[in-house]
Amino acid sequence: MIYTVLLPAAGSGKRMGAGQNKLFLELRNVPILIHTLRVFDRDPNCEQIVLAVKKEEKVLIERLLKEYRVTKVSAIAEGGEERQHSVYAGLKAITTKGIVLVHDAARPFIHQVVIQQLVQAAHTSGAAVAAVRAKDTMKKAVNGIIQETIDRESLWIIQTPQAFQYTILEKAERLAEVENFLGTDEAMLVERLGERVHIVESTYDNVKMTTREDLLYGEAILNKREQ
Ligand code: C5P
Repeated sequence: MIYTVLLPAAGSGKRMGAGQNKLFLELRNVPILIHTLRVFDRDPNCEQIVLAVKKEEKVLIERLLKEYRVTKVSAIAEGGEERQHSVYAGLKAITTKGIVLVHDAARPFIHQVVIQQLVQAAHTSGAAVAAVRAKDTMKKAVNGIIQETIDRESLWIIQTPQAFQYTILEKAERLAEVENFLGTDEAMLVERLGERVHIVESTYDNVKMTTREDLLYGEAILNKREQ
């Protein structure tokens, strides 16, 4: 089933401490951003890729797209102060109003099977997110003191992609803007509409490159996949 992917790529990557946008850091000599783009560029069901980037990085990113022969990028929007603003800017640049996947440009290891399940779930039900089960015991604490142990059965760690029917996500983003609401992910904005958001079980290797250790993990995943 056909979809459009929107990749917010306008972060600064402070937690990586690289002094530059972490998406330009390389895993096996290829920038993280290109690894992520390739997943979608090579997927025949992906119709177009829309990027949200920092104004000052647009030229560099356009150069990378040429160098690595990424062909499906149909629009490059200007990202905003917060990730949510970048996503909304990208959404406005999408020309087809079918299924939209929002995916962190910093998550290069998403599997095709999860992508297709998300697209299918969003087509059928409106909204779906990739998630994995919490592996550790989960507790709630205030000021360092445990208040309660939370039943792990009902807990999910949420990732991206997050898949939506375009009209639902557009409405959610518009409402959040009007009400000056800042969510931690797109699903949260859609939940506010009263829409059901479904979970699609993903994999633990769909990790977001956030801190230095993640780069080691990323190299290991690539080495394993190329064996
Ligand atoms: O910082 P973090 O890794 O959680 O950001 C997730 C994704 O959102 C990254 O791909 C990053 O480039 C993007 N982002 C953005 N605009 C922002 C902040 C983050 O596009 N203002």
